[in-house]
Amino acid sequence: MSPGRAFRDRFYHVVASVYLYNEFTGWQGLERLLDAVKTKMPGEHEFIAVIAKHAADERKHYFLFRKYFQKEGRMPLRVDLVAMDVGGDGRPSLRHHRGIGL
Ligand SMILES: [Fe+2]
Repeated sequence: MSPGRAFRDRFYHVVASVYLYNEFTGWQGLERLLDAVKTKMPGEHEFIAVIAKHAADERKHYFLFRKYFQKEGRMPLRVDLVAMDVGGDGRPSLRHHRGIGL
Protein backbone atom coordinates (compact mmCIF):
# COMPACT_ATOMS: atom_id res chain seq x y z
CA MET A 1 0.00 0.00 0.00
CA SER A 2 1.40 3.41 -0.96
CA PRO A 3 2.02 5.95 1.82
CA GLY A 4 -0.70 8.21 0.39
CA ARG A 5 -3.24 5.41 0.31
CA ALA A 6 -2.25 4.26 3.80
CA PHE A 7 -2.68 7.81 5.09
CA ARG A 8 -6.11 8.13 3.44
CA ASP A 9 -7.19 4.75 4.80
CA ARG A 10 -6.11 5.72 8.31
CA PHE A 11 -7.79 9.12 8.01
CA TYR A 12 -11.11 7.53 7.00
CA HIS A 13 -10.81 5.02 9.81
CA VAL A 14 -10.27 7.76 12.41
CA VAL A 15 -13.00 10.07 11.07
CA ALA A 16 -15.58 7.29 10.71
CA SER A 17 -14.78 6.05 14.24
CA VAL A 18 -15.30 9.52 15.70
CA TYR A 19 -18.56 9.91 13.79
CA LEU A 20 -19.78 6.52 14.98
CA TYR A 21 -19.03 7.52 18.57
CA ASN A 22 -20.69 10.93 18.20
CA GLU A 23 -23.82 9.56 16.55
CA PHE A 24 -24.14 6.85 19.21
CA THR A 25 -23.68 9.17 22.18
CA GLY A 26 -25.95 11.78 20.57
CA TRP A 27 -28.68 9.22 19.93
CA GLN A 28 -28.47 7.79 23.46
CA GLY A 29 -28.40 11.23 25.08
CA LEU A 30 -31.41 12.40 23.10
CA GLU A 31 -33.34 9.26 24.05
CA ARG A 32 -32.65 10.02 27.73
CA LEU A 33 -33.70 13.63 27.20
CA LEU A 34 -36.85 12.49 25.39
CA ASP A 35 -37.83 10.23 28.30
CA ALA A 36 -37.25 13.05 30.80
CA VAL A 37 -39.22 15.63 28.81
CA LYS A 38 -42.10 13.22 28.27
CA THR A 39 -42.21 12.62 32.03
CA LYS A 40 -41.71 16.18 33.24
CA MET A 41 -43.35 18.14 30.42
CA PRO A 42 -45.99 15.85 28.89
CA GLY A 43 -47.93 18.75 27.40
CA GLU A 44 -45.00 20.06 25.33
CA HIS A 45 -45.94 18.11 22.21
CA GLU A 46 -44.01 20.27 19.75
CA PHE A 47 -40.82 20.12 21.84
CA ILE A 48 -41.20 16.36 22.28
CA ALA A 49 -41.64 15.92 18.53
CA VAL A 50 -38.48 17.93 17.80
CA ILE A 51 -36.43 15.86 20.24
CA ALA A 52 -37.89 12.61 18.89
CA LYS A 53 -37.02 13.59 15.32
CA HIS A 54 -33.48 14.52 16.29
CA ALA A 55 -33.06 11.23 18.20
CA ALA A 56 -34.35 9.30 15.17
CA ASP A 57 -31.90 11.17 12.90
CA GLU A 58 -28.97 10.38 15.17
CA ARG A 59 -30.02 6.72 15.35
CA LYS A 60 -30.15 6.58 11.55
CA HIS A 61 -26.69 8.16 11.29
CA TYR A 62 -25.29 5.72 13.85
CA PHE A 63 -26.52 2.75 11.83
CA LEU A 64 -25.14 4.26 8.61
CA PHE A 65 -21.67 4.41 10.11
CA ARG A 66 -22.08 0.98 11.67
CA LYS A 67 -23.00 -0.40 8.26
CA TYR A 68 -19.90 1.28 6.81
CA PHE A 69 -17.69 -0.65 9.25
CA GLN A 70 -19.54 -3.89 8.60
CA LYS A 71 -19.08 -3.41 4.84
CA GLU A 72 -15.39 -2.62 5.33
CA GLY A 73 -15.00 -5.73 7.49
CA ARG A 74 -13.19 -3.88 10.23
CA MET A 75 -13.84 -2.67 13.74
CA PRO A 76 -13.94 1.03 14.60
CA LEU A 77 -11.20 2.54 16.70
CA ARG A 78 -11.88 3.01 20.37
CA VAL A 79 -12.93 6.62 20.91
CA ASP A 80 -12.73 8.35 24.28
CA LEU A 81 -13.90 11.75 25.33
CA VAL A 82 -11.04 13.76 26.74
CA ALA A 83 -11.17 17.29 28.06
CA MET A 84 -8.44 19.80 28.73
CA ASP A 85 -8.42 21.17 32.25
CA VAL A 86 -6.39 23.90 33.83
CA GLY A 87 -5.50 23.01 37.39
CA GLY A 88 -4.96 25.27 40.35
CA ASP A 89 -1.33 25.60 39.37
CA GLY A 90 -2.35 27.02 35.98
CA ARG A 91 -0.94 24.03 34.11
CA PRO A 92 -3.12 22.26 31.52
CA SER A 93 -3.83 18.57 31.86
CA LEU A 94 -5.95 16.05 30.00
CA ARG A 95 -8.84 14.39 31.82
CA HIS A 96 -10.70 11.29 30.72
CA HIS A 97 -14.47 11.55 30.83
CA ARG A 98 -15.70 8.24 29.45
CA GLY A 99 -15.19 5.93 26.59
CA ILE A 100 -16.84 3.18 24.64
CA GLY A 101 -15.22 0.08 23.32
CA LEU A 102 -16.87 -0.85 20.08
FE1 LIG B 1 -25.97 12.87 13.31
